[in-house]
Amino acid sequence: MPTNLRAWEPLAKEALDAATFGYIAGGAGDERTLCDNYDAFSRLRLVPRVLHATASGIDPSASVLGAPLSAPIMVAPFAYQGAFHARGEAATAAAAASLGLGMCLSTLANTSIEDVAAASGDGVRWFQLYPMADQGLNDEMIARAKASGYRAVVVTVDLPPYGVRERELHEPFSLPAQLGLPCIPEKSAAAGSPTPAQTTEMMKLDLGWSDIAEWVSRWDLPLLVKGVLSPADADLAIEHGVSGVIVSNHGGRQLDTAIATIDALPAIIEAVAGRAEVYLDGGIRRGTDVVKALARGAQAILLGRPVAYGLAAGGEAGVTTVLGQLVAETENALALCGCRTLSEVSGELLHRPSR
Ligand code: FNR
Ligand code: LAC
Repeated sequence: MPTNLRAWEPLAKEALDAATFGYIAGGAGDERTLCDNYDAFSRLRLVPRVLHATASGIDPSASVLGAPLSAPIMVAPFAYQGAFHARGEAATAAAAASLGLGMCLSTLANTSIEDVAAASGDGVRWFQLYPMADQGLNDEMIARAKASGYRAVVVTVDLPPYGVRERELHEPFSLPAQLGLPCIPEKSAAAGSPTPAQTTEMMKLDLGWSDIAEWVSRWDLPLLVKGVLSPADADLAIEHGVSGVIVSNHGGRQLDTAIATIDALPAIIEAVAGRAEVYLDGGIRRGTDVVKALARGAQAILLGRPVAYGLAAGGEAGVTTVLGQLVAETENALALCGCRTLSEVSGELLHRPSR
């Protein structure tokens, strides 16, 4: 049994064909951002506090847009889970819900909005929207998500266009022929193994801030924008009515050499100044990474590839184990930092070389 999140990667590699594994693992260009997401976390040093009686137990419970989670961890939206395991998104949703964690479902899922809701039961779920050129499709997807108990719409804004993914140029990945994209109206049936880049062709290419403002009022669900790295954009997002932003570089899969997310976070927290919730994804692999993101002001984090690897290697049980390992490490890091609850986590835990 793998003892940490990174150790799931070789198991997934064994379980998957080379193209599918490369699609998950890869990043854009020279994969500088992919690596920097990890490296930026490991450059940060913690300054723990002691004698807070944390060894007798801590409470890592969190809230996301007012909904309770057992820990500040959500599953990031990631596409094509049916290509990684037969139960796909249903397995991921069931695992997250069984631990009291949240899940964000991708537009490009191979399991329907309704089936994922059924698998997640009382679990906190969000729906990630890749806006389609046809506004009717967007309205229909959001109406279905709302009817199925999804609590927020996450609009991803750092794709299209699709990043330059060199691993996919060497080993092209395409959706297995038997899988459809049932979240998207009229795409439920399998349709000729599109590549991820081909799938982006039906997306809205002229997305702007006015769309965000319109959707905030039109859909009457909290809306988050995912893929923000600039404090100026965080400010604009709030001006256009969002409930939160997700600081993300798409796991290093889009613009290579874009700033690491943990490095981008402080300026965004400053710009947002408590007016909305701020989330972070990209490179989280240890409980200490979770604590560092919280110390820099994130409300919660989202986790991508390790969940995909757990799913590929072990289905629902694999995802449960991966998420459980991150929760356990987060609890351990909080205890060793002297924090009994998340409210005790602050920037004081991070070493500032100038001090
Ligand atoms: C993604 N990501 C993603 N994001 C999104 O908004 N919609 C999507 O459909 C996908 N699809 C997708 C597929 C795969 C295989 C991966 C690995 C990622 C990005 C994802 O939500 C998240 O931003 C990153 O995965 C976070 O980085 P880590 O945790 O993988 O380092
Ligand atoms: C990806 C897309 C589909 O990152 O979001 O592969």
